[in-house]
Amino acid sequence: SSVTIPPPACMLRPLEVPFRYLFGPGPSNVPPRILAAGGRPIIGHMHSEMFGIMNDIKKGIQYAFQTSNNMTLAMSGSGHTAMECAVFNIVEPGESVLVAINGIWGERVAEIAERMGAKVHTLFKTPGGHFTNAEIEQALAKHKPVLFFLTHGESSAGLVHPMDGVGDICHKYNCLLLVDSVASLGAAPLLMDQQNIDILYTGSQKALNAPPGTAPVSFSERYLTKLCFRYHHTGPVSGFFALRESLAILAEMGLENSWSHHTEIAEYLWKGLEDLGLKLFIKDKDLRLPSVTTIAIPEGYDWKELLAYIMKHHRIEFTGGLGPSVGMVLRIGLMGYNCNKANAAMALAALEDALKQCRKSKA
Ligand code: GLV
Repeated sequence: SSVTIPPPACMLRPLEVPFRYLFGPGPSNVPPRILAAGGRPIIGHMHSEMFGIMNDIKKGIQYAFQTSNNMTLAMSGSGHTAMECAVFNIVEPGESVLVAINGIWGERVAEIAERMGAKVHTLFKTPGGHFTNAEIEQALAKHKPVLFFLTHGESSAGLVHPMDGVGDICHKYNCLLLVDSVASLGAAPLLMDQQNIDILYTGSQKALNAPPGTAPVSFSERYLTKLCFRYHHTGPVSGFFALRESLAILAEMGLENSWSHHTEIAEYLWKGLEDLGLKLFIKDKDLRLPSVTTIAIPEGYDWKELLAYIMKHHRIEFTGGLGPSVGMVLRIGLMGYNCNKANAAMALAALEDALKQCRKSKA
């Protein structure tokens, strides 16, 4: 037997990775301290020092989530992995599940639960909409679900969902509350224990500024009564080093400072966008997600052309919508390390330039 497929030419060339300003909804740029942590020499995933680091990560997540849940850990995988894990471990075929859909993330959960054979009921709004506690309560009373899913930071719409009282209503109907905070954690206030959230997850690559690939998640004691959980595998050691450092940065800064900083920079960005004559997609300031701003696509422009121009001439990534918001919005994300006035000003200047250069002729 002999090798018949030759080494591919691309593999004989060096790796090239361009520099980009990642001002979309994530991943965001990774600061040198976190990159360096991820570049430390590997140790075994079962070494005592690694258990120490995993324990630091647990404490860091407990702080970031504001929870004392013992079952708090980082999963190997994307935020989507954590979403799937939560639904998969709690819902059994035939059980009733209620999913709030006001963007792509609710759509995803509904699909996962459906494929698992759950009876899926939905509360629905078009992107940008949100649900009142009365609407939620009515649906809980009607469908008697074992699980209710709500997205805290709907990145496809740029909406931060009000959380107060939702957990209490769920528990009144003996239902667990599952919340997605991938896009909002560290950028908008969220208090897992005080807000009675049963399962909360996030991603590493948004306001935490770690590389994609690890997902903090926490389960309440209530959930543990229903949980069947086995999780031995060789974890992404380098990813955990990086995540540990990103949680350390958040702890050093302090959650409240991180929240108010994101709000301050977002307000600066929003004002600048309005000064450019643009319309923000979420009208109510209190419902705007500070980490991901959505802009209604300005009339007379092709949104793909705007994005391509900005990437080509400014090396900046903004994105269009996602799922149901495609064709409705442009999205600018300034998260964690990327969240500062200089970057907001750079984003505004790039957009101003693109609006001048890309205007479609009326003729
Ligand atoms: C997340 O990945 C997003 O694009 O909103």
